[in-house]
Amino acid sequence: TKFLTVGIDGGAATGKSSTSRRVAAIYKLLHVDTGSHYRALAAGLIAAGVSPESQEAIESYTQKLALDTVIESGSAHIVVDGVRPADEDLRSDAVNANVSKFAAVPAVREALRDYQRSQRELAHQKAFDGLIVEGRDIGSVIFPDADLLFFLEADEATRAKRRAAEGQQDAVAERDKMDATRKTAPLTCPQNAERIDTGSNSLEEVVALIGSRIDAKR
Ligand code: C5P
Repeated sequence: TKFLTVGIDGGAATGKSSTSRRVAAIYKLLHVDTGSHYRALAAGLIAAGVSPESQEAIESYTQKLALDTVIESGSAHIVVDGVRPADEDLRSDAVNANVSKFAAVPAVREALRDYQRSQRELAHQKAFDGLIVEGRDIGSVIFPDADLLFFLEADEATRAKRRAAEGQQDAVAERDKMDATRKTAPLTCPQNAERIDTGSNSLEEVVALIGSRIDAKR
């Protein structure tokens, strides 16, 4: 089996996580959700009382960070200074409202870049057959050399329904706008990525399509 790196980019609530998790389980890939990394740092910065505008405080926070990983049921989870943030802390209203502001700060992205790239070695070490990494800049910055790149999209109504089903009242359109217009690593469809509409295709169909591309590579 060829070791594969698969990147899944796309806006909020386009189905990246459900898709990545399913594909990861079927193909024995390590699942890496880079959005949770930004959420973890945002939660830490908020808890430390740092505002997204205070460049210096953000830099001094990121310089001291020690990042680690625990793997649980096929997914990698970030550990920040020895602590694995709880899921509810990563999805709090404060994090939803501020994560894109922190993610636009170059020091925050730099702090995560090598960490995210190191997940490939980790997947190797732990005998996975590859990794599937979801985010906004996987094809453009983190793994431009990925074997397969996909860009997920969905209409507004589908995304609103998805968020409601997850119990999230988060203004995802606003977050997307911020993510797509920032200077550093904006959300964009990489040139060599395959676009998939997750509004008109079911989860099963999207998983089957990505699966067929993986089969063709192996
Ligand atoms: O994927 P999720 O919606 O959990 O990501 C939360 C936020 O983290 C995004 O809105 C974006 O601001 C940031 N992010 C990013 N780059 C990534 C993944 C997430 O800037 N690769």
